[in-house]
Amino acid sequence: MIVVSGGYQTKFGELWDKSLKDLIIEAGEGAIKDAKVKKSKIDLVIVGNKLAGKIGGQEHLGSLAIDCLGIRVPGIRVEAACSSGGLAIHQAVLAIKAKQVETVLVIGVEKMTDKGNGEIAEALMGAASEEERRVGLSFVGLYALMARVYMEKFGVTKKDLAKVAVKNHKNALKNNKAHFQKEIDINMVLKASMVAEPLGLFDCSPISDGAAGVVISKGSKGVEIVASEIASDSLGLSRRKSLIELEATQVAVKKAYLTSRINPRLNRGRPDMVDLAEVHDCFTIGEILALEDLGLAKKGEGYKGVKIPINTSGGLKACGHPVGATGVKQIVEIYKQLNGKAGKRQVKNAKIGLTHNVGGTGGTAVVHILRRQ
Ligand code: COA
Repeated sequence: MIVVSGGYQTKFGELWDKSLKDLIIEAGEGAIKDAKVKKSKIDLVIVGNKLAGKIGGQEHLGSLAIDCLGIRVPGIRVEAACSSGGLAIHQAVLAIKAKQVETVLVIGVEKMTDKGNGEIAEALMGAASEEERRVGLSFVGLYALMARVYMEKFGVTKKDLAKVAVKNHKNALKNNKAHFQKEIDINMVLKASMVAEPLGLFDCSPISDGAAGVVISKGSKGVEIVASEIASDSLGLSRRKSLIELEATQVAVKKAYLTSRINPRLNRGRPDMVDLAEVHDCFTIGEILALEDLGLAKKGEGYKGVKIPINTSGGLKACGHPVGATGVKQIVEIYKQLNGKAGKRQVKNAKIGLTHNVGGTGGTAVVHILRRQ
């Protein structure tokens, strides 16, 4: 059995007094302490990060992490845009399954707010296609295109999108690690400045600093990882079959439901349904598409929301989106929920949780399913 035996999230937000190294140390030490594991038992350290080389001049994060944590084992860094954290978790699971290691420390980290938003938007576009960069698109612009097609096809309004932002900001009020702890209402979302029509300020996840860490091991104590799946698709939107479906999510989740034998579509109303999920709401439309692609809502109905709690952490929208850290933070949130350690935002009797982490506009998707023992 492969389990998450400990997890920790730093505060997400504008952390001008913290360096990349400070964040790695806090997340790594926090996860190790929570897992009650000796450093000598850790066989491998994997760091998920997207931008440190490009905007911070710091690469070789595997070596940096093992050095500043004082763990003399192999350390590596992996990258898959905004799903770098999810990929790092997946690599840890693969390494344990391959019987090469027994205990892995995974850290997701990103330091973004030291640079101006223009520089960040340009750096983020490294995760998109050359054609998309050449015509001057940004990620907000790309998701705005997806939102427009969805709205047109299903008669959905900006108010429907706004509901996602209002819910996730409300959830974040119970999470003191969130970037924003600020309640918003539909009117505020609709009246906010427009970023890329139809997505306004509150439809977007923010630019954040932060880190998260988990200890994953072969063992019997902890929250079981019953599925860890990844899928890839074309880099650019123009080569997709549909602008309102992320095929990578659909493929990854199909595999995850098969491996775990947990499928909410087949088992609706039965005890083995998913109890809660952390999904990739980089923009409000992202959460709606995710609910549909994950099979939690029917196509064209994701905007109505679902009965199970989604993004109890506040999601990327309100908890924040330090891109390399997000996929690891999602696992920390589900681990806490399934362990009964989620404090004010605890979901009662949560047994099965799902995480969904997307790179770019769906070039990569990583899905994990975790189960309380
Ligand atoms: N949601 C809610 N509030 C936000 C916010 C967001 N996404 N982004 C910024 N704010 C708030 C700030 O806290 C600040 O509030 P204050 O005046 O009370 O201090 C105010 O809005 C202005 O902040 P500022 O940083 O000047 O905003 P901005 O207009 O420069 O940037 C965005 C806003 C939406 C353009 C920026 O957050 C962004 O680019 N987000 C998308 C990031 C992205 O693409 N990630 C990858 C996804 S694939």
